[in-house]
Amino acid sequence: MSSEENYKIRQEKSLNHLFDGSLLNVYEKNIVNLGVGAPGPDLLENCTSIFENATSHRMAKENENGNFFLFQYGPNDGTFGVRNEIAKYLSDQYKSPVFHEDIVITTGATHGLHLIISTFIDFEGYIFIDEAVYFIAINVFRQFPTLKIIPLRLTNEGIDLDHFEELLKSNKFHSKGKLFWGMYYAIPTYHNPTGITFSDKVCKSLVSLARKYDILIACDDVYNILNYKDPLNPAKRLYSFDTVEDPDYKGHVISNGSFSKIISPGIRMGWIEAPPRCKKPLVDSGLISSGGCTNNYTAGLLESLFTLGSAQTHIKTLYNAYCDRMKATCEVLKENMPEGCSFHEPEGGYFIWIKLPEDKDSNDLLKLAMDKYKIFFLPGNRFSIENKMQNCFRISIAFHPSDLLKQTALKLCQAIQEFLN
Ligand SMILES: Cc1ncc(COP(=O)(O)O)c(C=O)c1O
Repeated sequence: MSSEENYKIRQEKSLNHLFDGSLLNVYEKNIVNLGVGAPGPDLLENCTSIFENATSHRMAKENENGNFFLFQYGPNDGTFGVRNEIAKYLSDQYKSPVFHEDIVITTGATHGLHLIISTFIDFEGYIFIDEAVYFIAINVFRQFPTLKIIPLRLTNEGIDLDHFEELLKSNKFHSKGKLFWGMYYAIPTYHNPTGITFSDKVCKSLVSLARKYDILIACDDVYNILNYKDPLNPAKRLYSFDTVEDPDYKGHVISNGSFSKIISPGIRMGWIEAPPRCKKPLVDSGLISSGGCTNNYTAGLLESLFTLGSAQTHIKTLYNAYCDRMKATCEVLKENMPEGCSFHEPEGGYFIWIKLPEDKDSNDLLKLAMDKYKIFFLPGNRFSIENKMQNCFRISIAFHPSDLLKQTALKLCQAIQEFLN
């Protein structure tokens, strides 16, 4: 490589956030960007004061204790204190027990996913994904180039189980080195990008299939708390269907959670909830055991946030805002969606998946929406490993306030109408 080429590669733009300098720049004022799945500044504003208080609280505790363990390598899975706070909070939200013994602290669901694959999955094996799936997860899988990635058909209830079983039957092998020969990467609750929630029936059958063919199901459970339909009766996470009382129970499901959507993405905090036989290999992995708890300092602040009650209040504020935003956007879409198009109203989470007539390409709609209406969204093929789903696209309700979302949803319907005429 010439020194000139080297120089070009090394040149750096001064970026302030993940979306900076790209089409996804959601802070760009001239365009209403519906592409991004992250809270906006109005929802992050409160973080400065709650983190300031949590920091003071935590530092006082460190000074009092005198060992300054917060600044030492942490226990592999995280301290009892933070795991206990998370377990208590999740048990209350899920209306289903979460045990602190099952939790491993991560730096978010992306880290969790990478850790799960590298720890458990045979590198000659298989990752089964939905035909429309969170697109960056695909990049995580591609970091393991010998893994074979296979898409599964998706319905409004979850995946097509017969199709999945055929694939499991024909590909199963015995892994010599790893616990599992294959893994299904699932987003069963308020799915990204389609917004669907897998039915209980599909969840139960998935657990049976995982046991029968001995695969792991790794669920990205990053939206579960954002249940707008009936907060007292939340959708059951797939993990809870893998019940220890069953005679054939071994532990085939892992729940991979995150505080990115409910507190702040910048703090890089998440957790894995894993059955006992899976927790041990995770915490014994080189990645974890060499450095101890991957985010010990922030985990300490998070514990204080929960002890002080400010995490709970902050999450509730975000929840209320998202709930308003989802309902407001869906109302406008329901009233104005042009004929021939449809969407499934999500019961929670961030995303609405809009379907144009089969023969239309949402990339063409995007050109019109950007040029004339100044709206950005993510075309469906971005979520498909086979470059399908062109007639669909995803919008996110997370970033912008309700009023702007309502105006934009109306303009979007007008753009669709013009596009179809
Ligand atoms: C399904 C899913 N998993 C993982 C992530 C990323 O989570 P984290 O910020 O915790 O790494 C996202 C964010 O969009 C997501 O939608």
